[in-house]
Amino acid sequence: MTQRRPIVDALIEFQNKQPISFHVPGHKHGILSGLPQEIQSALQYDVTELAGLDDLHYPEEAINEAQLLLAEAYGAKRSFLLVNGSTVGNLAMIHAACREGDVVIVQRNSHKSIFHALELAHVRPVYVSPQWDEESMTAAAVPLKAVEEAIKAYPKAKAIVLTYPNYYGMVSYELTAIISLCHEHGIVVLVDEAHGAHFQAGAPFPVSSLSLGADVVVQSAHKTLPAMTMGSFLHIGSERVDAKRIQKYLRMFQSSSPSYLILASLDDARSYLQNYSQPDMRMFNEKRERFLSSLRMIPHLTVVESDDPLKIMLRVAHHSGYQFKQMLEKTGVHVELADLYQVLLILPLMKQWHAYPFAEIRSRLKEAVQLLEGEARKDMRVQVKTVSQVTVPELSFEEIDLTDQEWVPYTQVIGRIAAGMVIPYPPGIPLMVAGEKWTLAKVEELMNYLASDAQIQGDHRLASKELPVLQHEITRA
Ligand SMILES: Cc1ncc(COP(=O)(O)O)c(C=O)c1O
Repeated sequence: MTQRRPIVDALIEFQNKQPISFHVPGHKHGILSGLPQEIQSALQYDVTELAGLDDLHYPEEAINEAQLLLAEAYGAKRSFLLVNGSTVGNLAMIHAACREGDVVIVQRNSHKSIFHALELAHVRPVYVSPQWDEESMTAAAVPLKAVEEAIKAYPKAKAIVLTYPNYYGMVSYELTAIISLCHEHGIVVLVDEAHGAHFQAGAPFPVSSLSLGADVVVQSAHKTLPAMTMGSFLHIGSERVDAKRIQKYLRMFQSSSPSYLILASLDDARSYLQNYSQPDMRMFNEKRERFLSSLRMIPHLTVVESDDPLKIMLRVAHHSGYQFKQMLEKTGVHVELADLYQVLLILPLMKQWHAYPFAEIRSRLKEAVQLLEGEARKDMRVQVKTVSQVTVPELSFEEIDLTDQEWVPYTQVIGRIAAGMVIPYPPGIPLMVAGEKWTLAKVEELMNYLASDAQIQGDHRLASKELPVLQHEITRA
C-alpha cells in the first residue's frame, strides 16, 4: 500500500519555501483574512496553479499522479478528482455518455443533479421506479424486472442512470444482473454512488458498483471519507464511455480555479481508504457492534441496520423522526437526516487510533428519548403504494421550457401537464415530474399522502392548495 499523497506533499513542499504571494487568491496566504485563526492559518495552503502544483484541467505532475493512484485504489480504468461535488460528476457522466435526443433509462428517485443533467443534455428520459422496502422504510432499488420492461419498450436506449446505494445505505442485490442485461443491449451503465465512496474498504461494506461492472461511477468522497465538502471522485470502468468526453465536460462544468484544499483532502482521503487495514476494520466492527448493543438497551428505541454498516436508522415508538431529531439537537447530537419514521446516523469510518465518544453519545440519545416522552405522540404510518413501473413524460424538457406555466387549485389539475416535481416523503419517489399528465389516480394519491402526514417536497404551493401546470399543451405534428 502506498503512503504517497502527491498533492499534499506538493503543497507542503511549496509552503516550506516561504513563498510570497503576488497572485490570486486575494487573501494572500490568509494574511488579509479576518476569519477565525484556525481558518486563517489553513488558508496558507489555499493556493492556485503555481510552479510545482500542477493544473487540475491539464494535469501532468502531482494531480496527475494523485489521479493515477486513485484509479489504482478503486480498480478503475481512469479516475478524476472533482472539486464541485458529485453534482458535477453526474453532469459530466451524462453529457459524456449521451447525445441530444438519446433515450436514457433513469431511476425515478434520482438526485436533482441527475434531473438537471438530463435537461441540460437534451435527452429523453424513461423513468423506472424503485421498490419500497418495508424494513428500512425507504425507497430502495430499482428491480431487474422494471429494467427488463424498460429495455423491452425502449430497446434503443443509450444509457441507464442508477443510484447505488440509496441515502440510507440500502443496495440492490440485482445490480450485477442489471448491468449484464444493459451491456447485452449496448446500454451504458452510469451509477450515482454518492453514498458509497467508502465501499472500497471491503467487507462488511457492500461491493462498489464499479467492481460489479458499471461504466461510470460518481462518488461523494466528502460524504463518508475524510474529505472536505465538495470533494468527489469520478471513475471510468470500461471503454464504453470516452474518457476524453468526460474530461471535456469536467473542464466545462468545473471551476477554472479549483480549490487546492479540496484537492489535497481528496488525495488524503484516497490514501486513508487505501491504507484501511484489516485491524482497522476489526476495530470498527467491534466498536460499532458495542455501540449498537448499548443503544438496543434504551427503552422505546429501535435500531435498524442498513446494508451499509456505516449507516444506522433509529426509531422511537409513537414519535416521528422529525420529533426525535429536534430532541437530539437539544442534546447537541446532529444526525444526517430525519424522515417520518426515523433518523439516520452516519458513523465515522474510524481507524484503530481514533476515539469517538460513544458512551457520551449513548447517554445523550437516551436523554433525547426520555425528553420525547413529554411530547405529544404522533402515530404515523403513511400508506406507501409503489408499483414498479416504467413511465415517460408527455413533453420533452425543451417543450416544457418553451411553455408558460400557471398555478391552479389542485382539484383542477386533472388532464393538465405538470410544470414541476411533486415528491412525497415517504416514499421520496416523485409522484409527478415535469411534463407528466395529472390523472385522477395521481391526484387521489397526492390527497392520501397529504392526509397521512407525508411531507411534500418539490414545486408546489400546497399550503394554498395550488400546483403548477403548463398553460397550454403543445400539439405535436
Ligand atoms: C444520491 C446523491 N447524488 C448526488 C448528490 C450530490 O452530491 P454532492 O453534494 O457531492 O454534489 C447527493 C447529495 O446529497 C446525493 O444524495
